[in-house]
Amino acid sequence: MARIESAVMAVEIKTPKDIEHMRVAGRLASEVLDFITPHVQPGITTGELDRLCHDYMVNQQGTIPAPLNYTPPGYTPYPKSICTSVNHVVCHGVPGEKRLKNGDIVNLDITVIKDGYHGDTSRMFYVGPPSIQARRLIELTYDCMWRGIRVIKPGKTLGDIGHAIQNHAERNGCSIVREFCGHGIGLKFHEDPQILHYGSPGMGMKLEEGMIFTVEPMINAGRPEIRQMADGWTIVTKDHSLSAQWEHTVLVTADGFEVLTLSDGSPPPPA
Ligand code: MF3
Ligand code: CO
Ligand code: CO
Repeated sequence: MARIESAVMAVEIKTPKDIEHMRVAGRLASEVLDFITPHVQPGITTGELDRLCHDYMVNQQGTIPAPLNYTPPGYTPYPKSICTSVNHVVCHGVPGEKRLKNGDIVNLDITVIKDGYHGDTSRMFYVGPPSIQARRLIELTYDCMWRGIRVIKPGKTLGDIGHAIQNHAERNGCSIVREFCGHGIGLKFHEDPQILHYGSPGMGMKLEEGMIFTVEPMINAGRPEIRQMADGWTIVTKDHSLSAQWEHTVLVTADGFEVLTLSDGSPPPPA
């Protein structure tokens, strides 16, 4: 979500009951990605992917697509049920008439609501065989997300997470989008704290057992600057370079972390 300059962060510690519900919502969000995977093929439109996911959520899962009509302060209501971000689109790509073609890369970002609780996850997909650059960016971004997640443990800080992500991306010649960040999540879609994907070791809030938040780095092959399109939602790279993003929802446990948005189709964590 969009990063905002805010004062004090009010971070909720989840109860055992909250955590049980968040495990269910997280798995369901990931299962929407499993369901849609075989449909991500040349010739399909992003609007058709949206419709397939919407119907699966509502009719098969009994979940609510959280994006539909979601209206954060300063935004118009989001008109669709998922986000589809193709090539130089960084995030919040709005599904429509755009047809996927060989060589495209696309992020599908799914947020479901089950029994009031939100599960939020996204994956990257190749349409047909990927170019070497596209594959490199997507794999790098996946590794960055997991490097951030693997830091998570009580006593570590938000800056430790951001640093792990930023350091790996920049060492590999790519750049971190600064304007959007991960977020606390639970009964609300976007809660405190904000999880920046850059930072300095030891800085920022300390992690505590029972926090739940997303890690969702957006990484550009070129420069970090972004622009918002006239639709008020779609974010693109200013230099039109490729951008990639992966997202998991994660619980801070007594001795580390638990990724809540896993399912049978989740790609394995990097070695
Ligand atoms: N799922 C996005 C996130 O990871 C938020 C999308 S907001 C929407 O935070 F309205 F565009 F769906
Ligand atoms: Co999110
Ligand atoms: Co998301």
